[in-house]
Amino acid sequence: MIRLLAISGSLRAVSTNTTLLNAAMRLAPDGMTIALFEGLATLPPFNPDLDVDPLPAAVADWRGRVAAADGLLISSPEYARGIPGSLKNAFDWMVSDTEFAGKPVAFFHASERAVASQAALRLVLETMSARIVEDATITVPLLGKQTDVDSLLHDKAVTGRIVVALEAYAVALT
Ligand SMILES: Cc1cc2nc3c(=O)[nH]c(=O)nc-3n(C[C@H](O)[C@H](O)[C@H](O)COP(=O)(O)O)c2cc1C
Repeated sequence: MIRLLAISGSLRAVSTNTTLLNAAMRLAPDGMTIALFEGLATLPPFNPDLDVDPLPAAVADWRGRVAAADGLLISSPEYARGIPGSLKNAFDWMVSDTEFAGKPVAFFHASERAVASQAALRLVLETMSARIVEDATITVPLLGKQTDVDSLLHDKAVTGRIVVALEAYAVALT
């Protein structure tokens, strides 16, 4: 079984990025499960002085979930031409985790406009020696759309692209 951890960079209740990840969870092919990480807002601001045993409980949970995942699936908005602070903070907590190197990561971009943050996130994760799975990285333009997961699942063009990306992710991990 391939276990992916989905991470949305948006804390908004009706986030298009989270909706896209929720659709991916519902479309996971046989042999793949996708769990959504819901603890982004519970992580304390990164502080190297706290990056020692015992870790803050939220950090230990985050690291455990990343370690247990075969790969990450990230969907994030762009704020002020950059990565949302809460998402960058989460990955700052992973920098000293020796198990992170080589972790497969794919991006599901929910905006075609957010090129600066996409490039910045890629740079951060490549710096941390993540393995970017290009074949599983897609852009589904949902910017400004009032959509929910059921509507998205009725859009055959969207679901087709998600399924192809997830199948490519499975191939890349086998
Ligand atoms: C404070 C703030 C700053 C933003 N800055 C940018 C930006 O620099 N570039 C951009 O393309 N969109 C920007 N946006 C728009 C969001 O990235 C966009 O609405 C995104 O789709 C929201 O994602 P969500 O629906 O998952 O919350 C900004 C939005 C907010 C609230």
